[in-house]
Amino acid sequence: MEFDEIETIAVLGAGSMGHGIAEVAALAGYDVNLRDIKEEFVQNGYEQIEWSLEKLADKDQISQDEADAATDRVEPYVDIEAAVGEADFVIEAVPEKMEIKRDVYSDVEQHLPEGAIIASNTSSLSITDLSEETERPAGFCGMHFFNPPVRMQLVEVISGGHTDEATLDATEELAEAFGKTPVRVRKDSPGFIVNRILVPLMNEACWMVSADEATVKEVDSTTKFDIGLPMGAFELGDQVGNDVTYHVLEYMNDVLGEAYEPAPFLEETVEAEKHGKKTGEGFYDYEGGEGVDIP
Ligand code: 3HC
Repeated sequence: MEFDEIETIAVLGAGSMGHGIAEVAALAGYDVNLRDIKEEFVQNGYEQIEWSLEKLADKDQISQDEADAATDRVEPYVDIEAAVGEADFVIEAVPEKMEIKRDVYSDVEQHLPEGAIIASNTSSLSITDLSEETERPAGFCGMHFFNPPVRMQLVEVISGGHTDEATLDATEELAEAFGKTPVRVRKDSPGFIVNRILVPLMNEACWMVSADEATVKEVDSTTKFDIGLPMGAFELGDQVGNDVTYHVLEYMNDVLGEAYEPAPFLEETVEAEKHGKKTGEGFYDYEGGEGVDIP
């Protein structure tokens, strides 16, 4: 698939990344089929897109006409055949479990036109391993967005062991058409580049709290105000989703060793389903739960 043949994009998974990626693609003028396994999931993703576009329009970052046009370009689906049957490019953003992704690829390939590219927004899983679950490993790559996709400039374009140059070129050009800056990641290593650096930082912050060496607020005021990160380490964890951070660490721990063992404080937070902003509570309390009050 050449970049200039891409017209319809299917985004699979309407969660915090999927809906944000669909929004970015729709803003860039593409027809977007947003698909999730349940009507309520896809509807929730669609409403998040509407909320975000309205917010951008209220702040004059886009015009109301652009917001309305982008909303109109997104079609919500549960039926997989309808979502991918005429798609030129698929961006998969389903949960970070190999079994789930394998089943999704198998369903997708029953209906996806030959030549269409499949790109995974996985946070860490091996692109080579994922591509081997499809019948088009050469037409498969990583396309990793950052949260929130509509605000974050970078996209990692990751080559798996079987990805061909044409797929990488088309994916990079698509990221540029989305108004993003693609960075090609040559080596399919755990966490790619950004998460390999960022996720251990978030984990180290959790180890400090586990060992009672610092509080959530102390760590965040240091990382945000002294080191100069745009968000504190814990604020960032809540933005990304603590379940996502945990899954990335589990995978890096398996593949790279014990330096990446998730901290007990992170584990407890995830076990309590305090996944961050998306569940209303994480390290911080967004809706009156038990977390630390937002500073
Ligand atoms: N759409 C529209 N508006 C949004 C939004 C969205 N998706 N998300 C947040 N906003 C709004 C907020 O509601 C808030 O609105 P308000 O002012 O009316 O209260 C406003 O944006 C906050 O934005 P500001 O411009 O005031 O704040 P900043 O300039 O600080 O920008 C930020 C916010 C861009 C999120 C910035 O804090 C930032 O860059 N944070 C770091 C994020 C980051 O590093 N993400 C990558 C994480 S790693 C990852 O995702 C990989 C994964 O695989 C783990």
